[in-house]
Amino acid sequence: MSDSVTYGGYLRLNELLAAQQPQTEQHDELLFVILHQTMELWMKQAIHEIGAAQAEIRAGDLSPAYKHMARVSRIQAVMTQTWDILATMTPADYLRFRSLLGSSSGFQSAQFRVLEYKLGMKDAAFLRHHPEGSADRKALETALAEPSLYEDAIEQLAKAGFDVPESAYRGGAQAYAPSAAVEDAWLEVYRDTEKYWQLYQLAEKLIDLDDAMLTWRHKHVLTVERIIGGKRGTGGTEGVGYLQRTLARRAFPELWTVRTRL
Ligand code: HEM
Repeated sequence: MSDSVTYGGYLRLNELLAAQQPQTEQHDELLFVILHQTMELWMKQAIHEIGAAQAEIRAGDLSPAYKHMARVSRIQAVMTQTWDILATMTPADYLRFRSLLGSSSGFQSAQFRVLEYKLGMKDAAFLRHHPEGSADRKALETALAEPSLYEDAIEQLAKAGFDVPESAYRGGAQAYAPSAAVEDAWLEVYRDTEKYWQLYQLAEKLIDLDDAMLTWRHKHVLTVERIIGGKRGTGGTEGVGYLQRTLARRAFPELWTVRTRL
């Protein structure tokens, strides 16, 4: 670092540390704000890493992609651990400031949806939470239109000679529909791991991400139940019941179903 560069200046700490603005005098509100903000920062880094992994996979350069994907798994593990800090906030603590949140909720997190879209869980219904023309909306539309990480992986199956339909890796903004041909291709990869070592590694790195995402979701719903029980969510869903249903979401469905056939 040159002499003119300072620690606080380089990291923009004045801006960063001025961005926590609790609306009440309640002690736990700062924790609530910081937990959301740190989670958003980690999502930003995860999106950055997935973008790099996708570029490498598209170029057929799988080994460096594994490194980026492994980093995402570590980030997800830290995000999951964060729920333990939140769990130290009791229902009584939260109720002291919950009403000020109005209808705002993590449900409206644009980065969370970009992450889902980039992995492969495309659902255009979430666009409606973000005004047309806004930066968030544009980021979401881009992630919806571009091939997802899973589509990039399936394209590699096609390039390796597997008979997978083009619609499986060029679905555009459509929600991914599980395909028997893709499952058959993964089956061959898992049956002959030596021959298909690179694709086998790719499959396992992908399932690491899906596994970690589900672990995050699970711990979120558990912590939410601990704090608000069966109350409705501020974002307008029924709350815990809605979150429990998200546990069925899979970014890479055939990588789960293929296991039964092995
Ligand atoms: C007291 C703490 C929290 C409670 C009670 C809570 C509760 C909820 C509820 C009930 C929902 C369902 C949507 C709704 O109706 O609002 C939800 C969704 C969500 N929350 Fe939280 N949450 C908390 C903390 C957090 C934190 C710290 C994050 C981190 C960013 C977060 C991220 C999300 C995300 C991304 C969703 C959407 C999940 C999906 O649709 O798959 N939540 N939350």
